[in-house]
Amino acid sequence: GAMQVLEENWGIVEDEGPPDLLTVLKHLMPSRAPQSSPDAAPAADSGNRTGRARRQGGPRRRDARTDAQIKEAFDALRETSQYKEMFASRKRLPAFSSQEEFLGMLAKSRVVIVVGETGSGKTTQLPQFILDSLILSGQGSKANILVTQPRRISAISVSARVAAERIDDGSVGYTIRGESKQTERTKLLFCTTGVLLRRLSTGDNFADVSHVVVDEVHERSVDGDFLLLELKELLSSNPTLKVILMSATINHETFVRYFDGAPLLSIPGFTHPVTDKYLEEFIPSLDYKPPAARQGKKRDDDEKDDYDGLDQRTAGAVKALMRADRIDFQLVAATVNHIISTADKRGGILVFLPGVQEIRQCLDLLRASPAAGQATLYPLHANLSSAEQRAVFASTSKWKIVVATNVAETSITIDDIVYVVDAGKVKETQYDTDSGLTRLVEQWVTRAAARQRRGRAGRTQPGTCFKLYTRAQERKMAPFPTPEILRVPLESIALTVKAARETEDVKAFLSRAIDPPKVVAMDKALAVLEELGAIDQDGNLTALGRHMALLPVDLRLGKMLILATVFQCLDPILTIAACLSSKPVFLSPMDKREEATKARAAFVVEKSDLLTDAHAYDEVIRLQTEGKPASFIRNYCDEHFISASTIRDITSLRQDLHAALLSTSLVPPGSSPSSPALNTHRGAPTLLKALLLGALYPRVARIGLPRGALKFTQLAGGSVQRESAAKEWKAVDMRGARVWVHPASALFGESKWASGVVVSFARVETGKVFLRDVTEVPLYALLLFGGQIQVNHVAGGLTVGGREGVLRLKAWPRIGILVQQLRCVTILTVR
Ligand code: CDP
Ligand code: MG
Repeated sequence: GAMQVLEENWGIVEDEGPPDLLTVLKHLMPSRAPQSSPDAAPAADSGNRTGRARRQGGPRRRDARTDAQIKEAFDALRETSQYKEMFASRKRLPAFSSQEEFLGMLAKSRVVIVVGETGSGKTTQLPQFILDSLILSGQGSKANILVTQPRRISAISVSARVAAERIDDGSVGYTIRGESKQTERTKLLFCTTGVLLRRLSTGDNFADVSHVVVDEVHERSVDGDFLLLELKELLSSNPTLKVILMSATINHETFVRYFDGAPLLSIPGFTHPVTDKYLEEFIPSLDYKPPAARQGKKRDDDEKDDYDGLDQRTAGAVKALMRADRIDFQLVAATVNHIISTADKRGGILVFLPGVQEIRQCLDLLRASPAAGQATLYPLHANLSSAEQRAVFASTSKWKIVVATNVAETSITIDDIVYVVDAGKVKETQYDTDSGLTRLVEQWVTRAAARQRRGRAGRTQPGTCFKLYTRAQERKMAPFPTPEILRVPLESIALTVKAARETEDVKAFLSRAIDPPKVVAMDKALAVLEELGAIDQDGNLTALGRHMALLPVDLRLGKMLILATVFQCLDPILTIAACLSSKPVFLSPMDKREEATKARAAFVVEKSDLLTDAHAYDEVIRLQTEGKPASFIRNYCDEHFISASTIRDITSLRQDLHAALLSTSLVPPGSSPSSPALNTHRGAPTLLKALLLGALYPRVARIGLPRGALKFTQLAGGSVQRESAAKEWKAVDMRGARVWVHPASALFGESKWASGVVVSFARVETGKVFLRDVTEVPLYALLLFGGQIQVNHVAGGLTVGGREGVLRLKAWPRIGILVQQLRCVTILTVR
């Protein structure tokens, strides 16, 4: 089919260009996505299974037991001493005092909203109340309770906790992307919000689900808000479904209003008093020398008040600290040391920092400080393995210092915390609809978040919260966070809506969200989907878009994987997609930057950061398959500045991605990433680069010498010396804006640009717009996989592109040769 289209279009190639990717794919793909059928899933065995290949969150197998048998088993469980012991400690949680009221509300209403202090037992107890009451009233077989968690890490740890509370009777499981643990007896399933949304996007109306419990709704993530929107619609199409919303005590009136006055249950939390200490109050007693106050610009919001009791220098330093964009880790360390040296009672210290990098830096400083001898230090963030995360709960005979991101604000509770040190900052994505750029910016937290952080100190006894900001600064903080849906790109959500409800107008649908996104943001999302080929010009879902919607990854990576299966080079593209989803393959420590760059240079291939990463990955895996001992491989990684932990992440991500392809039937059942049939062209770098362009277009830039870059000098003998005055080649993106190759790219400072076109994955703005993960691509790739081609006969050149902008190429004289190449590639690869 595709070949025929190519042949048909051949005659007019100079006017319209070769068929674009969409046209080719339309002929290669079924227009309807494969329907998920329970029969296609491998037969479930009776034991627990962690099935990567298992269809995620899909229709489950029925528990073969009768209601009476289920009740009998539960009654027996309740008689065991293990259960009784667990139950005794559960009973002390505040949630238990509200059990009857909760079940009463649930009996009368289809939606119930529950608020309560962190640690009151909402997440672990309420779903069990529902399950127990169903089982005991003889409706155990009906119970199918889904509980969403905003993060993978909490889904796993909470399900482990609840499973332990039920003495691992098989009733509790979890499902996250690429990993699932459940049996046919599972009645309580913890899953990430994303998993549930994907299930909804296949048109599933949750006919077999009895309850959906949405946890941490106050976070107001895009996924969370979107799920509430979907559930609100679902309540009318599914007459038996019940929905429970759980929230920290923040802005819960919003949810009551959104669900038309649904009943609200407030779990009376008992918390101990927490003493607030603001920076200006304790800074004089710290062993801390403030950096000389820089003569920073005066800001309009500078407070006039001079701080009583502070000398002028300290007062100046405090003001400078409030203005600085970065956290002063010396101040954090000094505060922690101050607590340890002056406290009259020992207790856990919880430090809140904005990100993983900051946690690492802070831990380094703490390890070198006096506190180190008396304390055990723990990092806590969402990227930890569950074992690393569990370590935080262990008891220690020393001081426990946990340095955490905002995961410890509401979703993870550590019971023995008495002191909180709040740096007051959080990292938030900001999205600029005009430029399409996303930035991660460090900001002051909101007052609501500050209150949550403070509350962590009073869980089990009176505590103290050291705020690394002033009282005046706190007054300036925003009261509540801006819902994420108002500040991030919406293309992924828009595609999900499109895939789930083809007839529905995406914009009209999203306008029914709690906080409807701006119209410009929705228009932008639809434009991006069109650029990616996920929807056509009339806004209809394409075959490509339908398949992209099924893959639980970034849209561009999804497209890349689909292309890899079509063009049979799965293995290397799986690695590249995994690289783009994980931390950098090559380490670049601040103090050894040059050495690291040199080490990487040995791996650079094909003028491509991505192929270079994949090359390094393959080298390490080769050593593994050759059976080299682990210590040898570790040394090899250290020597070449390769991150061994990233290599492990990539291996596991490759499996996840392959499992996703399997479950959407994009690769045949039983195939592996390296199956020969899926890898006919794995060794063709030009094809790989073309596919990268196909997936990442229009993130393309043209690189050339700037105008007037050549300088001519008349030499003494009369001859003319020609030299380039430009140190730098100039790169321009599709919109004609200047961009720069990021210094961290292997292509930085590249002096021989053959084709002059590069494609990049990420654009980051730090003063200039930098391109990261850059690959030089052959021109024909742009002609085949890029936008529309327009030949300018008069000026002699051509442009590629469309609404997204155009790239001007001076390739006209070579078009004949290029088209030849195009034809070769296409014939070679499309069968
Ligand atoms: O959801 P909420 O913050 O209201 O509380 P929860 O997560 O249900 O936690 C209630 C209690 O269960 C905590 O205070 C911990 O003592 C315990 N828990 C635990 O030991 N291990 C976990 N992974 C989660 C909770
Ligand atoms: Mg909770």
